[in-house]
Order: sequence, then structure tokens, then C-alpha cells
Amino acid sequence: MSKKRKRYRFFEMLLFLLIGAFFFLLFYGWGVHFIGKGASPDREKPEGEAPLEQDMSFGDTSSPAKTAEVEGLEIRADHGFLPPGGEEKLTLVATFADQRQEQIDSEGINYEMMDPNLGSIRKGGIVRVSPEAKTGDVLTVKAAYKGKIAEIQLMVRYSLEDTIKVDQTGKTVVTNLDDPVILVNKERNLPNDYIPSDLVPLKIPFSFQEESPKKSLRKEAAEALEALFKKAAEEDMNLTGVSGFRSYSMQKSIYENKIKTMGEEAAGRISAFPGQSEHQTGLAIDISSTSVGNRLVENFGETKEGKWLAEHAPDFGFIIRYPKGKEEITGYSYEPWHIRYVGVNVAKEIAKRKITLDEFFALDTFETTQ
Ligand code: DAL
Ligand code: ZN
Repeated sequence: MSKKRKRYRFFEMLLFLLIGAFFFLLFYGWGVHFIGKGASPDREKPEGEAPLEQDMSFGDTSSPAKTAEVEGLEIRADHGFLPPGGEEKLTLVATFADQRQEQIDSEGINYEMMDPNLGSIRKGGIVRVSPEAKTGDVLTVKAAYKGKIAEIQLMVRYSLEDTIKVDQTGKTVVTNLDDPVILVNKERNLPNDYIPSDLVPLKIPFSFQEESPKKSLRKEAAEALEALFKKAAEEDMNLTGVSGFRSYSMQKSIYENKIKTMGEEAAGRISAFPGQSEHQTGLAIDISSTSVGNRLVENFGETKEGKWLAEHAPDFGFIIRYPKGKEEITGYSYEPWHIRYVGVNVAKEIAKRKITLDEFFALDTFETTQ
């Protein structure tokens, strides 16, 4: 082959390679562009649509949604009140920037029980109340998720059905006798022979001089009442104790005397049937003031002492047990003088909601007292 011919073949091959490379790059580039946009032009995002990570479900922890912004976090519970030993599954709800709310079920939630002596929390948000927890105890649970923290409070409350039995005579008798939140009413009787074991004499002024069991209350209630009287005196309120603890037999004689003077129906509205009086629990006391001659009259509620008592009693763990307008629920006329110890948390919840102790046991959602 001549030199000229060889050079010609060389340029011929170079041209062939250049054309090949051109078509290769053309098809390769188009292919990458095509795959990158998706198989169909319909899949292209219209202008203004949210970025991918924002329209993914947050229930899926393997998704890019993990990076989305959480604006608010809330813990929810179906029941705000739990019995000792009871369990409740909490749910965590997140609010996103576009106000969308979703339930979170991922591994990324950190729950913490703030009162480990009252209960515990397991993975998945299951709260368990300690069997030793008492009615009125408040459990606080916190949850942390994506840098946000939520909190819920649950109150411990025994169940009414679990605290009664029917005795040989067919009477419904309460079984949680030493519980400071014991519920005694026209359906729930105390045993005839029940006398609290921790009655102590009260160091407060009484409307009468002689010694009497009526001048005593259970220790916890007595201490709270003495603190209440101290505060009242500091604020120039002249309160007087009239009748604290009353045994079954004392109540029987009061009730029978009322029946004689006013008949059974009227007597039943102002005096409890023996075994149904809160005075037998050692947690209730009748209070009056010198301004109404230390009498137990409705007008006491209108005195400055009566108003002070209604307002401040919950701070010391007491409630007005038979309020005005609740006669149908309690079964008794308004008694502004009869206060009942239930502990500060329960008393505040009852006062804040303007309900009775009977209604407290029907509540489903707990509103924090803090
Ligand atoms: N006065 C209240 C109802 C009682 O007798 O216990
Ligand atoms: Zn009373």
C-alpha cells in the first residue's frame, strides 16, 4: 500500500470513530435525562407542588419523611383517669407546617414517666399505674419526637364497681374504707361497725364545750383542717367546728329524731340514713361562724366566712360536698357548712369543674390542676 493510501485509511477510521462517539453521547445523554425525569412526562411535578419529603406519610419511618418539620406535638389518651394497676395506650399526634395532623407510630419517640414511683411507661406508649398509687395521684408523661416535646397528665382513680360488695342483708357496702377519697352516698353504705382507726382530736374552736368524738377527724383530714383554720384566722374569719366524726349509732339517733319531727321524706333530704353519713368516715365536718350564731343554716353560705370557706377549702383538700343546684345528684339539700376531705388534687379538680364527688367518678378526661 502506498503512503498516500495509508494516510487516507487513517483519516477514514478517525472520522468513523468520531461519528460513533457523537451518536453514543447523544443517546446516552438523552437516556439519562429521560430516566431522571421519570418514564412519563405526566410524572413531572407541576409548579408550586410541595417538595417530595413533605407529602410523604410520617407513619413510615423508612421514608424521606423523617426529615420533615414537626410544628406541634400532642399526647392523647382515651381515658384521663386510670385505676391503680391499670394500663393505657397513649397516642402521639404531630402537626406539620401545613397544619396536617398525623398519628406517629415510629421508633423515634422517646417517652418518659416523670413520676417513676407512681407508674411506668413501655415502648409504644403504654402507661402502667403502680398498684400502690392512690386516688388523686397525678402521673406526668413526656414524649420527645423530632426536637419537640409533649406532655400529658393522668389522674389515678379507683373504680366504683371494684370497691363495693353486697352483704348478707342485701345492702351494698363500700370496701375501700380507709381511702381518703371513699365515696359514701345513698347507694354506698359503710359497715355498721366501721370506726376509723386514726381519729385524732381537733385543735380548733368548737361551738360547744364538752368532750365529744364529734371533735375528732382522721389524722390526714385533721391536719388539713387545722391548716385551713389557721389561714382563716389570719384573714379575720371566725370559723367554728360544729360536728366532725359521728359513729353509726350517733347518726342513727340524729336520723330517727329528724324523722319524728319532720317525717321520713323531709328527714332524708337533710340527714343521712345510718351507715350513709360521711361523718362516719371521719373525713367530714360541719363548720359555721359566730356571725350566724354557729348554726347550720343555708345563710352561712352568704356570710363572708361561708364565702371564704367555699373559695379556699380546695387549697386544703376539702370540698363543699352538697352544693346548691346539685340536690338531684347528691340526694341532699344545699349544705354550705358540710365540708369533706378528699385531698388537694381531687378537691381542686372538683372545684374547678363545679361538680360533686359523685360526678368526679364519672369523669373521663382529666384537666390538669397545675
Ligand atoms: N347532713 C348530712 C347529709 C349527713 O347527715 O351526713
Ligand atoms: Zn355534715
